[in-house]
Amino acid sequence: MQVGIDDLAIYVPKLYIDYKDFAEARGIDPRKLEYGIGVKKMALVDTNQDPACMAANACLKLMQKNHLHPQEIGRIYVATESGIDESKAMNSFVIGMLEQVYGESSFEHVGGIECKFACVSGSYALYDNTNWIRADENNGKAAIVIVSDIAKYDIGSTGEYTQGAGSVAMLIKDNPRLLAFDQKVTSTIIKNEYDFYRPCGKETPVVNGNYSNLLYLIQVRKAFDSYKEKAIRTKLIRLDDGESITDHIDLFSVHLPYRRMGEKALAYLLRHEWRYLPRWNQVIKEVGLEEPVPKDPRGTIESILADTEFMRADEKFRRAFMQTSFYNEVFEKKMASSLEASTIIGNLYTASMYMGFRSLLEFEHKKGTDLENKRVGFGSYGSGSSAMVFTGVMQPEYKEIVAGMDLEKEIGTRKKISINEYERLRREGKFDTSFLPAGHNEFVLIKLKAGFREYDCPS
Ligand code: COA
Repeated sequence: MQVGIDDLAIYVPKLYIDYKDFAEARGIDPRKLEYGIGVKKMALVDTNQDPACMAANACLKLMQKNHLHPQEIGRIYVATESGIDESKAMNSFVIGMLEQVYGESSFEHVGGIECKFACVSGSYALYDNTNWIRADENNGKAAIVIVSDIAKYDIGSTGEYTQGAGSVAMLIKDNPRLLAFDQKVTSTIIKNEYDFYRPCGKETPVVNGNYSNLLYLIQVRKAFDSYKEKAIRTKLIRLDDGESITDHIDLFSVHLPYRRMGEKALAYLLRHEWRYLPRWNQVIKEVGLEEPVPKDPRGTIESILADTEFMRADEKFRRAFMQTSFYNEVFEKKMASSLEASTIIGNLYTASMYMGFRSLLEFEHKKGTDLENKRVGFGSYGSGSSAMVFTGVMQPEYKEIVAGMDLEKEIGTRKKISINEYERLRREGKFDTSFLPAGHNEFVLIKLKAGFREYDCPS
């Protein structure tokens, strides 16, 4: 039985800050944000929004677009690292909101939990719900997995320019129209790490930025190694001499804390996969440098980061590699389209890779690419840390869904706020002084007292 993503819907909050205003306020060269990070607009939640109402907004869109009745849904999972309660799961808030539209107890039969593992938990939620359907435990019903987050860092920190907010809701069912997941190849890796974490009660994370960058690359590569072993063993993919498994993956969607990180993740993966293939000689010729090796190739991440001579040489090599025709051909063909949304929305934590997938579909379709039967590779990473690598194949009916995709239109009219307003929003953040008039076309928070949250219903 084929199980996968039948359709998806997104929600992006309507406030944003512009990278040029941000760069000026923080004394940063705007080109660093535009090219070094890859961000032009960072989405922000208004004071009357939280990750639960963003999740409900994405879910309601998905339900309405597909004319779904609550009885057709058996599970609603919300994956987030922006939890609003230490005990009450975010999906219970979402169900409360949906029942304002569909009627009291209309989702009573539904099961689900809030999932947490930094930015990777949405992928675990997808995998678990896919297997729930494969195991025929679903009684003919579909599952909805929502990824919803507010990426928020300390003011003045280097993480501050990797903020953003939004949600993606995905309909998981058998015979999906969009993408069917490949079976028996999903691979995970897990390790106790402190690259990024947010202790209870703290609003912003504690981040070891460069460590988290390298750990992301290493963990995804390890999960990819395991994926490769399974894909060959199960004969999902057959490698001929001189071929790389990346030759058999047509499109890539990876965790995107910021656009540039996606570009770097692809470079790391290709170097790893091509290093021992005949084509590497040609690559090295074009790079014009020998690939550097750390003093202790079996060392820890700390020892590699501390090996400054290697790190400098490796950065130089990586940048030159990313200029080669070999890298650029793969990048343009397989990844570039997935990065468009990140540039105008920013970081979405759990939702970042799925917004990237949404972006990939729209912009590949606009390029005129025929996506039918194309294999999409996903590289999901969550700090703390775990990575998950899996693949899926685009289904013949994908066109009926992708044809109507228009990111700008779906995001809707946005309001740019000044850096002073942004800082006031961060400092005061009172929900009764929102920037935008409460529209009646989406869920917003209208009461917040002692943890009790009341939401307004779209009319
Ligand atoms: N013009 C163009 N590019 C510029 C530039 C300029 N004037 N100045 C700097 N840059 C480039 C750098 O060369 C670098 O590019 P590279 O990665 O290709 O080498 C990039 O901008 C980032 O600059 P850098 O100084 O290396 O990093 P930073 O100190 O600004 O921090 C993060 C970047 C990602 C570490 C930081 O934003 C962070 O901690 N984010 C949160 C954690 C995170 O997202 N982790 C990711 C893994 S989950």
